[in-house]
Amino acid sequence: VGTPRRLLTIAGSDSGGGAGIQADLKTFAAHGAYGMSVVTAVTAQNTVAVTAVAPVPPAVVAAQIDAVLLDLGADGIKVGMLGDEATVRVVAERLQAHGAGRAGFPPLVLDPVMISKSGTRLLAPEAVAALVEELLPLATVVTPNGPELMTLAEHPVTTEAERGDAALRLVRRSGGVAVLAKGGHAEGNPVVDLLVSPRGRLRFAHPRLDTRSTHGTGCTLSSAVAVYLAAGLPVEQAVPRAIGYVTGALVHAVPLGHGHGPLNHLWSHPRP
Ligand SMILES: Nc1ncnc2c1ncn2[C@@H]1O[C@H](COP(=O)(O)OP(=O)(O)OP(=O)(O)O)[C@@H](O)[C@H]1O
Ligand SMILES: [Mg+2]
Repeated sequence: VGTPRRLLTIAGSDSGGGAGIQADLKTFAAHGAYGMSVVTAVTAQNTVAVTAVAPVPPAVVAAQIDAVLLDLGADGIKVGMLGDEATVRVVAERLQAHGAGRAGFPPLVLDPVMISKSGTRLLAPEAVAALVEELLPLATVVTPNGPELMTLAEHPVTTEAERGDAALRLVRRSGGVAVLAKGGHAEGNPVVDLLVSPRGRLRFAHPRLDTRSTHGTGCTLSSAVAVYLAAGLPVEQAVPRAIGYVTGALVHAVPLGHGHGPLNHLWSHPRP
């Protein structure tokens, strides 16, 4: 069977198991990878609401990153919810200390989580500048949804053309990071996810599925991109594969909870 790929998520915990660290670890496992996690915040959360958020002390976030990377190492990294500016800075500083931004460092997917599907703020407004300046340049690909892209690029994103222009602004601003501008929040069918990088622009249109089971789509997509990048695929191939995995997880979702239910991360695995 060989050594599994080592995937690390740096993100918040979702007690409901549908998003955050839990979605990331399930996505890694579904692809046969060995999952590791650095918890940045604990959220009390279900399919309906986020009812409490407690940040993990920055020194403990740093210690988790060091513990994992000094011993086990990683073939791919996904960064999700960070919560506040101190956490953004400590994650950027520790990743850089371990070689992020230099040749040979594993691919890094930055999901710039700002607001939960249920409407709770998951990143302090004053942390946005640090995210753009410190963390974005270390990423291989960044995966904003519409509102996040608007904030990061400081550009309107109502139409698809505007979304493409905003993504290009962010590519330039970040010094060449690939931007996956997700279309889940935009109106209309199909959903259009745009991938913009210094190498050009790709458009991934796929049917908008009529389902309430959409909790954690963004977390799942970014973890899947990290898995495929860790497997050696270029961003242009990792992204459509990851969209395909999320589509399967949406199609095969089984309603759970009273709000936006989780995806079925193990949709291609038999149940006993
Ligand atoms: N109803 C849907 N049908 C098909 N694909 C969807 C649907 N909703 C979201 N997606 C896909 O899920 C992926 C995540 O996009 P989305 O815009 O939902 O991210 P997000 O807003 O960051 O999610 P989250 O709220 O989990 O953080 C994208 O590939 C998007 O196309
Ligand atoms: Mg998201």
